[in-house]
Amino acid sequence: MQLTVSKVGKTYDAQSVLSGISFEAADEERVLLLGPSGSGKSTLLNIICGLQSADSGWVSIGSEAISPSNGDVIRKRNMGIIFQTLRLVSALSVKANLALAQKLQNGSTDPAMIDQTLERLGIANRAKARPFELSQGEAQRAAIARALVVRPKILIADEPTSALDHANTQTVAELLLEAANDAGATLLVATHDDRLKAHFERTLTLSDGRLES
Ligand SMILES: Nc1ncnc2c1ncn2[C@@H]1O[C@H](COP(=O)(O)OP(=O)(O)OP(=O)(O)O)[C@@H](O)[C@H]1O
Ligand SMILES: [Mg+2]
Repeated sequence: MQLTVSKVGKTYDAQSVLSGISFEAADEERVLLLGPSGSGKSTLLNIICGLQSADSGWVSIGSEAISPSNGDVIRKRNMGIIFQTLRLVSALSVKANLALAQKLQNGSTDPAMIDQTLERLGIANRAKARPFELSQGEAQRAAIARALVVRPKILIADEPTSALDHANTQTVAELLLEAANDAGATLLVATHDDRLKAHFERTLTLSDGRLES
């Protein structure tokens, strides 16, 4: 699904974070958003997901403009999101977190797909664990699995490899690309990690509130 970001601006108090960000990601395109800590990556992703409002400009998902007023509906229909802070439900096992995501998105669950996704991410042995019983890297992979099992048309990941070692970073990058490919999804990954660059055909760099491609 196509993603269009047009002239998005955001200021917190007196601090301008985004000053007129524009780009498009075509259907099934994979884009890496690279920028140092504090450059506004999470802010931009939140605006793209309709979780935060922009001060100016707009974002559309396919042909629909997204904002906090309709974000719930558009996210549910189209998006899989891996949050920087993961946001797994601590009262539920890994497997139940994934099942809940599917249930909310589709009204039903697909246990075979859940098992297969956990297997591919190398955390099938942790399926019954609760989030606080996981290592940081395992929790990150659980959050990735949760975004994948809803078969999103747009997959958005905020620092999906920040807690991973080199080998798992490579595995997860390949897996995100492969999963986006399988699902026919557009992929947008935000990171400060240069190592991900090699995996993407297109990199946008966020610096001083502006994008360089
Ligand atoms: N809700 C908020 N209120 C005020 N300032 C904020 C808020 N959220 C973020 N900021 C500030 O905006 C700037 C951009 O933050 P943001 O989280 O978007 O950056 P980031 O690129 O995702 O950083 P990181 O790589 O550390 O996750 C930072 O200076 C941050 O302190
Ligand atoms: Mg961030």
